[in-house]
Amino acid sequence: MPKLLHLQVACAENRVIGRKGQLPWRIPEDLQFFHDQTAGQTVVLGRVCFETWPRVLLDGRQPVVITRNPALASDQVRVAGSLTAALAIAETLPGEIHICGGERIYGETLALNRPMRLHLTLVHADVPGDTYFPEWRHLAWRETSRRESADANFRYTFYTLERP
Ligand SMILES: NC(=O)c1ccc[n+]([C@@H]2O[C@H](COP(=O)([O-])OP(=O)(O)OC[C@H]3O[C@@H](n4cnc5c(N)ncnc54)[C@H](OP(=O)(O)O)[C@@H]3O)[C@@H](O)[C@H]2O)c1
Repeated sequence: MPKLLHLQVACAENRVIGRKGQLPWRIPEDLQFFHDQTAGQTVVLGRVCFETWPRVLLDGRQPVVITRNPALASDQVRVAGSLTAALAIAETLPGEIHICGGERIYGETLALNRPMRLHLTLVHADVPGDTYFPEWRHLAWRETSRRESADANFRYTFYTLERP
């Protein structure tokens, strides 16, 4: 039985997740949530996400980076040429599997027919950007938790959504 896939994303109402290779906002509570969720787990992510996440190798995370460049591999970093290959590696590692983006990797993951849990921070604003989370609202999710929060700049909601 394959492991449950956890998807981690913070997304604006207009589905923007990134701008110029960075997050388009600074929301400390969400960043802390993301770090807590992924600590000690296997994180599957694209090359840009890997290169722009300073703490990826801390707190026991085991990255599996999707890239066409095998030279990125090291003692701490596994690489794969596709999502399928990355998931095959992730299954062999201890802990949970967390899919951390970017855009194409989220799209390919949402298209898989297997159980998944979406940890979605929905930022209640339309934000300028160049990278998007694919449309997810039409998929058959079951909401298992919701918590609203805010800081000085944004209102946002932490959702947990599940698909069988
Ligand atoms: N708000 C959020 O929750 C969130 C989450 C994740 C990312 N982001 C933002 O999104 C942006 C980064 O995402 P991105 O979509 O631009 O980049 P990305 O997916 O992190 O990286 C793109 C690279 O990954 C490799 N890749 C991706 N999909 C692949 C596939 N299916 N097969 C083979 N290789 C693949 C390629 O690497 P090579 O070129 O090395 O071959 C590609 O150039 C940043 O702005 C980041 O801050 C935000």
